[in-house]
Amino acid sequence: MKTIKVRLKERSYDIVIGAGLLSKTGALLQKLGLGKDAVVITNKPLLGLYKRDLETSLHKDRFTVRFELVPDSEKAKSSNVALKLASRIAAYDKKRSVFIIAFGGGVIGDLAGFVAAIYKRGVPYVQIPTTLLAQVDSAIGGKTAIDLNIAKNLVGAFYQPRMVISDISLLETLPARQIRNGMAEVIKYGVIKDRQLFAFLEKKYSDILRRDKESLEFVVSRSSRIKVNIVEHDELDKTGLRAVLNYGHTVGHAIESASSYLSRYNHGESVAIGMAVACDIASKLKLTSPEVCERIKALIKKAGLPTKITGLNLSKICGSLAHDKKFVRGKNRLVLPVSIGKVKIIDGVPDRIINEAIKKNLKNG
Ligand code: NAD
Ligand code: GLY
Repeated sequence: MKTIKVRLKERSYDIVIGAGLLSKTGALLQKLGLGKDAVVITNKPLLGLYKRDLETSLHKDRFTVRFELVPDSEKAKSSNVALKLASRIAAYDKKRSVFIIAFGGGVIGDLAGFVAAIYKRGVPYVQIPTTLLAQVDSAIGGKTAIDLNIAKNLVGAFYQPRMVISDISLLETLPARQIRNGMAEVIKYGVIKDRQLFAFLEKKYSDILRRDKESLEFVVSRSSRIKVNIVEHDELDKTGLRAVLNYGHTVGHAIESASSYLSRYNHGESVAIGMAVACDIASKLKLTSPEVCERIKALIKKAGLPTKITGLNLSKICGSLAHDKKFVRGKNRLVLPVSIGKVKIIDGVPDRIINEAIKKNLKNG
């Protein structure tokens, strides 16, 4: 078991990473003084797979356990679901000391973290991420959110968990498409900060896709460290340091929103296309070389992720882009690759160049 410390003064916490950690959940939480009554927010498929193991572990350390189920899709990140959850927790929370466990992927992590932030103006919560994407990214750093119809993640709060338990064994039941989904964020870390990680991915991508435990543990640890280092220096996304995590996310979020968060593109697939589009923009602006772009796109493809957009048109994507919360006073802000391991934040990229790059990556269908 590896432990990574997130140092944020009184909001500091540990990320523990390893295989078979679910059965140790009760023991890991015991010393945190969270309260005795765990409310586990999860969905039906995950409940079917892991209820017994999680409940047994929590009971062993004398926690009471209540499961709260939410829909299994991005639609769970809605005001309706969040407020219903808060009401159900309030009805249960009489003479108890409740804390929340987010048990799921990024959808459940973002939603449960948001409910923890707003219920009673904040109750403790713990992240047990069950997808690769959530283990390497969304469970870390305290960004919690729900979506509005016009764009994703528009309502939210910075609210740090008290612990993150990343059990690599949970990834055994994850569908293959979801492993690829998480790979998009891992590739992102390679491009923005870590050329050794990028080179590792180029060599070992097939081991990761077939869930080799050692490779998975390596990419979860390495990615977590990169994110922790960034969050420790810019917790509230104020200095521009944390903004580099948005590489691929500006156009990516627009694609995700434009396809109405339905099943065409999941988060990682949208980010993969967004990273490819960002390469073309950087190339056009002469920030990077064609060789760097080709290396990035080649790795995205090797990981089984798309670089081309199907079923959406330019005006739909541009309509969603206008609502990007990363834009400052209506001016766009893009994270663009310079070399492998180095990116630059550029404000006010001409719309013409963005549109051309999106068009170049449109595939009719
Ligand atoms: P997800 O949460 O929808 O999970 C994907 C699917 O995998 C779901 O159907 C889920 O039920 C299933 N699943 C999860 N774990 C499983 C397991 N161990 N075995 C079998 N099935 C399992 O998708 P995601 O990609 O994890 O998260 C995407 C969300 O994360 C988006 O809403 C995105 O905005 C958010 N996100 C947030 C941050 C952040 O910093 N807060 C960062 C990146 C992404
Ligand atoms: N996923 C982007 C961030 O945490 O800042």
